[in-house]
Amino acid sequence: MNILHVVGARPNFPKLAPVHRAAKAQGIEQLVVHTGQHYDAALSEDFFRDLGIPAPDVNLTVGSGTHAAQTARIMERIEPVLEERRPDWVVVYGDVNSTMAAAIVASKLHLRVAHVEAGLRSHDRTMPEEINRLVTDRLADLLLTPSRDADEQLLREGEPESEIAFVGNVMVDSLFYALPAARATRFRQSLGADGSHVVVTLHRPSNVDTPERLRAVVDVLAEIARERPVYFPAHPRTRERLTRFGLDAGGVRLLDPVSYFEMLDLVEGAHAVVTDSGGLQEETTALGVPCFTVRQNTERPVTITEGTNRLTPDPAPLAALVRAAKRPAVPRRPEGWDGCAGVRAVAALAAR
Ligand code: UD1
Repeated sequence: MNILHVVGARPNFPKLAPVHRAAKAQGIEQLVVHTGQHYDAALSEDFFRDLGIPAPDVNLTVGSGTHAAQTARIMERIEPVLEERRPDWVVVYGDVNSTMAAAIVASKLHLRVAHVEAGLRSHDRTMPEEINRLVTDRLADLLLTPSRDADEQLLREGEPESEIAFVGNVMVDSLFYALPAARATRFRQSLGADGSHVVVTLHRPSNVDTPERLRAVVDVLAEIARERPVYFPAHPRTRERLTRFGLDAGGVRLLDPVSYFEMLDLVEGAHAVVTDSGGLQEETTALGVPCFTVRQNTERPVTITEGTNRLTPDPAPLAALVRAAKRPAVPRRPEGWDGCAGVRAVAALAAR
């Protein structure tokens, strides 16, 4: 068996790492194709280093663009690579444009596609990621799911049971793998954060693309920052919008994007997290840190029913909610969030 992995954007890399490691341990031949959707070192290269993944074998250097332009560029550039290699499996991760683009091209070349993190649904088609999830899952031959609700969702959509394999959450594999090195960065201490701090990340179009919405969110963050330190490692698009809309984040400490290790250290010791990211909803549940997700919906409902996540579509009550936030005595982790999901994913690939 040989595997060709396709990744492109920051949230893909911690998902690739445990699958790559498990396949390597079994001597399976593998190739990593990076589409180049994310190209800044802080969003890409540094993650490969921290996660111990070898540098990509192929980089398609597609860069930024509109959704159509970026997706088209990935499809055009990946086609000859897939045609030349014809792997037994093309493995795609998560819900970014690179995931969907690679799945379409591989399917049309009659290559078998496996989707890691299948079956998640926000049921909100205004999110580009939801379109990517729907298309990828419909095309994939093997649906590797992170939670039982994802299996049920795929069955409801008519996917055959034989194509679904529950493997658990690969993000949690990476989290466990990285925690000792994350703590060793002493990043929290270097910032002077004492555990009363809040960590913020926001980059979704629904929060940052209109001045009114971004202002409402930033105002409440400034309110929280009057009571406790607020650290906000800002995605390049968020930074750009803040400048363009002329918004001042008050006492909020804006940081450039931080490394994977630094982020985990900062989050593990936080009082609470305010985010619109998918990965952080999972990481906070695994670590037992209260999380407030500034969105109408989540494709990861298990982080609410079993974890520490809470949806706060309206940012106004955030200051009071953060003030009242309490950690659970012991983090409760959903089934399969145990550090072994990558091994189970490779076993599922090998079994077919
Ligand atoms: C992408 C994913 C999103 C994921 C996020 C994590 C899609 C549809 N979205 O969103 O699901 O949560 O990554 O980071 O695939 N930019 C840079 N440097 C880079 C890459 C991007 O400055 O290395 C800037 C550019 O201005 C670019 C913008 O960020 O136009 C958006 O990048 P893009 O890859 O289109 O989407 P993200 O918002 O990063």
